[in-house]
Amino acid sequence: MSESYLRVYKLPAEVGEMELAGTATVVIDLLRATTTIATALASGAREVVPFREIDETLAAATRLGRSNVVLGGERGGRPIAGFDLGNSPAEYTPEAIGGRPVYITTTNGTRALYHARRARRVIVGAIVNLSAVVASLREERSINILCAGTDGRETQDDLLAAGAMVHGLREQPGGGEHALNGEATLAERDWCDLVHKAKLGGRTLADELAEALLVTPGGRNLAEVGLGSDLPLCAAIDRLGIAPELDVTNWRITVPRPESLSR
Ligand code: MLT
Repeated sequence: MSESYLRVYKLPAEVGEMELAGTATVVIDLLRATTTIATALASGAREVVPFREIDETLAAATRLGRSNVVLGGERGGRPIAGFDLGNSPAEYTPEAIGGRPVYITTTNGTRALYHARRARRVIVGAIVNLSAVVASLREERSINILCAGTDGRETQDDLLAAGAMVHGLREQPGGGEHALNGEATLAERDWCDLVHKAKLGGRTLADELAEALLVTPGGRNLAEVGLGSDLPLCAAIDRLGIAPELDVTNWRITVPRPESLSR
């Protein structure tokens, strides 16, 4: 039987696309792409389609009929001219989405999803859906956690979320059998340190995490463009009970029905 493993990669550049083939790969861009995609689906988006470039996003929206689709995303953290929404989870309300598909392009997150396209399963992971993602991986033996990073640099915001997932997976029955790579061990340690710090300070874990995010590269970027209020939303542990997946054949992210998970 093949080795059971759990590996964390700090950036897409650290793992070849083919190395992800056949595995379950969780993509994390905590601030904010994967948090926002999960929020959009929880708010009733029919599907979320990730794009790498602005012009391909616009062209696809024109093909579908511009008013039939919600265009979202960011460049430099800011909303894109001509798009309906930026990349703040708060914007993705049921009213704003109206049950339509969301086409989204972001600087790092949607690129990381593209990098994972050879995987057997591509799961959209964040802190808002931590427990749902962990539960969806219960039967998996080869698990990769791919962090998007910020502008080609590793970032502690993604790594804390990765550590939370590693910890959650290892706490599950049989989870201790996974062989961890060095990054998975370090990420889990950092997450457990944060949990410990929250307990010692009598603070909620979500508050502790939101404060920790403020000093990460992704968090600083958001604060600089006046979007620091997104941090608590991205730190709200288990606000959503869904584990969205990218269907790489049809290139769309949806929330799988329970029976389609037994693959
Ligand atoms: C990204 O994909 O780089 C992020 O989601 C950035 C952001 O939300 O500003």
